Amino acid sequence: MKRIFFTLICLMLFKTIFAVEGMWIPALLKKFNIEEMQKMGFKLTAEDIYDVNHASMKDAIVLFGSGCTGEVISNDGLLITNHHCGFGQIQKHSTLAHDYLTDGFWAKNRSEELVNPGLSVQFLIKMEEVTREVTKGIKEDMKEDELKTLIASNIDAIKKSYAGKSDYKVDVKPLLYGNQYFAYIYEVFRDVRLVGAPPASIGKFGGDTDNWVWPRHTGDFSLFRIYAGKDNKSASYSPNNQPYHPKKFFPINLTGIREGDFTMVFGFPGSTQEYLPSLAVRLLIEKSNPNKVDARTIKLGILEKQMAADPKVRIQYASKYAGVSNSWKKWQGETKGLVRLHAIEKKEQQELEFSKWVSQDTQREKKYGTILENFKKNYAELSDIQIAYDLYNETILRGSDVFGLIARFDQLAQLVNDTIKFNRQKKTIAEVLPGFFKDYDGPTDQLILPALLKLYFERVDPKHLPEKLISRKSDLINSTWVQKIYKKSVFADSLKIRSLLSGISAKKLKKLQKDELYSLYTTISDYYIKNIDPTFQRLSQEILKTQKAYMAAILEMKQDQRLMADANLTLRVTYGKIEGYEPMDGVYYQYYTTLKGMINKHNPNIADYVVPEKLKQLYQARDYGIYKNPAGELPIAFCASNHTTGGNSGSPVINANGELIGVNFDRCWEGTMSDVLFDPERCRNIALDIRYALFIIDKYAGAGYLLKEMNLIR
Ligand code: ARG
Ligand code: ASP
Repeated sequence: MKRIFFTLICLMLFKTIFAVEGMWIPALLKKFNIEEMQKMGFKLTAEDIYDVNHASMKDAIVLFGSGCTGEVISNDGLLITNHHCGFGQIQKHSTLAHDYLTDGFWAKNRSEELVNPGLSVQFLIKMEEVTREVTKGIKEDMKEDELKTLIASNIDAIKKSYAGKSDYKVDVKPLLYGNQYFAYIYEVFRDVRLVGAPPASIGKFGGDTDNWVWPRHTGDFSLFRIYAGKDNKSASYSPNNQPYHPKKFFPINLTGIREGDFTMVFGFPGSTQEYLPSLAVRLLIEKSNPNKVDARTIKLGILEKQMAADPKVRIQYASKYAGVSNSWKKWQGETKGLVRLHAIEKKEQQELEFSKWVSQDTQREKKYGTILENFKKNYAELSDIQIAYDLYNETILRGSDVFGLIARFDQLAQLVNDTIKFNRQKKTIAEVLPGFFKDYDGPTDQLILPALLKLYFERVDPKHLPEKLISRKSDLINSTWVQKIYKKSVFADSLKIRSLLSGISAKKLKKLQKDELYSLYTTISDYYIKNIDPTFQRLSQEILKTQKAYMAAILEMKQDQRLMADANLTLRVTYGKIEGYEPMDGVYYQYYTTLKGMINKHNPNIADYVVPEKLKQLYQARDYGIYKNPAGELPIAFCASNHTTGGNSGSPVINANGELIGVNFDRCWEGTMSDVLFDPERCRNIALDIRYALFIIDKYAGAGYLLKEMNLIR
């Protein structure tokens, strides 16, 4: 008995050492983390990760597009990220004749690499704390507006002080709700070409069915190449550009991984909310998530049917479907996880302790005494406004495609008195139109619009809806009526809309009110902007202000503790270990999956589970080359206890020696609440084993020539 108790204690200690909550600031690792990292097995130094004067790991990592991470794996700018991060590009290059989504794409040489207008990658040159500079001149009794103006002008000055090279971009961002500020300098590269992507049956194997779920068999990677001008500096696209030579690229380790190994993930986590008060978590669980989920359930149901019925529609909506489905599923897992963790009760408990701490000191009372009361007042008022906000977003702004297009014309109409902005917006619309109609299917959109309007009218309190529409509700949710107004509308016709745009004028924009689709959209949106948005903005501001004070108080209360700053789409380090987990009583999930498991999942009747023939042959022949593990299996994915979030997709998963062992792409179902509350027992990130990516490139795609530029450690 004694021994069992002892082992249990050891196990618990062991566990707490394993998973480490937090996404840490690279420039501050030395102060807060490196010692712990080294204790966990990391063999390098903080400077190897982040250094301004010498090449370090950060020089091999990019913000890919606007919300993913990628890493450089060759001296010729070869970049690996996820298949789902490059999905938009792969999809844009796909047609029925060249269906790269289905068949995959591999450039046989550099001249075949595909150009992607609009895609950029950004390297962080350096980051610096600028709290003092941003808050310079702030006085205690300043009014909110004054304060904002002052901070904005300080930030402007900081940006100017960093300016110099034109291809550098400077960002100043708040951390810890504005209790700290950092400046970030990036070099932006705009010529990024598609090099290779596996077929969806590999890169998206398991599809939306397996999304957010471990165990996983998705080969979620794609390859790009960064191009630069002759001077190796960022340049806009030119056929004369040359592969970029990075300051650093990741060596790739093929010797494999074991449970308990140290790992770190280095990338651009987008956003987390670890310091929300209980009332915010309640609103999320009880109202926000359910409403958003229900809206998307409706949309996805329609898309599913339409895509199954027509291969053209399948390609047109593949990327949109994946995007809609991704958050839809995550919100459900998040709610479940927060309920299971008793997140509301936990936060309430923390608030009790907080109140106690505040009441111990009159100075604190004065500074922080009203925080919880403010939350209470503002969240009470926010509650039904939040419903209107969420549903407006989901059903009107992002519901039907046609409303999205109309919104752009509506913006144009607001700009008639500003020629420069007007022309800029006109140009933007002209640029998006071809892509819009390439991926637009009228009959599908006509089903989505009335179905979502129905939900909007059902869920939003009538006092937050435009009266003149309430009386017309039966028309608006009637698909025959909606079809009729689409037929008459210029917005559903690519030729008409193009000719309208080319001769657009204030007068013509005014006339658009006669277009029933247009007037339907503007009636709803004008009402929203006038009646709902101001209240929503006011409450958001109030809550943010309170949250800033709450954060300051927590920082004071927990002075002796290390606190993570919420993610804000800047470069962060998170670390943990390779480890499985117990999803439920009596079940333990192993830390890795193999090709055998993928073959076992094969099912010709389920589109997400069809294994390509060639992969089956390679499996039958066990033709795994140098990519198999010591047990002779071909590894596909692994899970580990790194605290990651959206934006970390595509991030390098790095071993104790700073070598690439995987590419991060997801989190496990039982851990999707980690943006709000992290559970070291069950929160796991999911990564593609780099050996599987190389196996696919080499054995499956016959693109082994790409391996020659890599540095493989065997
Ligand atoms: N859940 C992952 C992330 O949040 C992957 C999403 C892409 N895959 C998909 N089946 N939609 O981005
Ligand atoms: N799949 C996510 C991404 O695209 C990663 C995550 O949310 O864990 O960034």
